[in-house]
Amino acid sequence: MTSSLRQLGAADLSGKRALVRVDYNVPLADGRVQDSTRIEASYPTLDYLAERGARPVLLSHLGRPGGSPDSRYSLLPVVDVLAEGIGRPVLFAEPADSGEAVEASRNLRDGEILLLENTRFLPGETRNDEELARRFAELGDLFVNDAFGTTHRAHASTVGVTRWLSPAVAGLLIERELLALGRLRGNPEAPFVVALGGAKISDKIDLLEGFLSRADRILIGGAMANTFLSARGEDLGDSLVEETARDTAAALLDRAGAKILLPVDLVVSSGPEAGAEARVVVPSEVPSGTMALDIGPLTRDLYGEIVSSARTFFWNGPMGFFEREAFAEGTNALAAAAAAATSAGAFTVIGGGDSAAAVRRAGLATAVSHVSTGGGASLEYLAEGSLPGLDALEGS
Ligand code: 3PG
Repeated sequence: MTSSLRQLGAADLSGKRALVRVDYNVPLADGRVQDSTRIEASYPTLDYLAERGARPVLLSHLGRPGGSPDSRYSLLPVVDVLAEGIGRPVLFAEPADSGEAVEASRNLRDGEILLLENTRFLPGETRNDEELARRFAELGDLFVNDAFGTTHRAHASTVGVTRWLSPAVAGLLIERELLALGRLRGNPEAPFVVALGGAKISDKIDLLEGFLSRADRILIGGAMANTFLSARGEDLGDSLVEETARDTAAALLDRAGAKILLPVDLVVSSGPEAGAEARVVVPSEVPSGTMALDIGPLTRDLYGEIVSSARTFFWNGPMGFFEREAFAEGTNALAAAAAAATSAGAFTVIGGGDSAAAVRRAGLATAVSHVSTGGGASLEYLAEGSLPGLDALEGS
């Protein structure tokens, strides 16, 4: 991890209100939490604080409500999930910048946790407003950033608050994430295999550039593969192709030589909807009126074999439209190969919401070395080696 980053172990905690920025940006449906992974990921830090006599006051965003209250993005549904999961009473106060919230933080008793309403209900949050940051700072005696998934955002609750509240330290989740991702940035054991999927090359271009010099193999799948195949001159019918990224993809292919692998076959269909007929074709024979929705069986075997024999493996982005079982086989095959590599002693990291969800759905989350809680944050860290939320902690 970054050597100058201040850590939780160094802080004086007893009797203190610890203002903890967590990332509880979790999927909700009908007012219920659909996946509690990010909530559970905060338990080690919250337990650590409570066991040392500190009283956690939690700040988080959920979704993108746009700076005003919107009940669809309330953090209220998290209260019971957190209380039950961690086995401690959880109180709730709103809005997060109010006198009532400060009062509630001062009235907290040992063992209790206070969760505050969505920071993005406040207009100053995403523009890192100084006055809002100062009000947040009144909620604690020290600041702990444990919102790894949000460390790539310079917001009032992640960066601004550190100007007003000291010490400002990293929580245990951030420590764990940096330990794992740092191994990929350092000197990863060869063969180092990277698999990239998902829709957009433009979002991942810096990462691709960075991996070109460090990885032994880069396996491309999902919609991203369409853009590369199109850059190679294939006609992909109705497939999703990022037209504006085609030249970049062509230039990357030129430079990469055999290092970048593209699918040798594809599963195509008229669309992702249930009941549509699917078939396997080579990339040069995608029928018009169909689109690529998964990598084909030959590609699954090829990628699976390469991943199984990797010593270091990083994966971001699904290999196909994995939300539909009919097009999830490529993603599932890669998850199984990652698990096989891990049991053969490889160090394997899954980064990013969709690939992490796919690995969890395949029941393999504990069969790989590390599943990151950060999508954009893990990519930015791997590409840049720094994150605004971490830089704010250093030297604070
Ligand atoms: C995420 O889910 O990647 C983080 O919580 C950040 O959310 P954002 O992309 O809305 O800033």
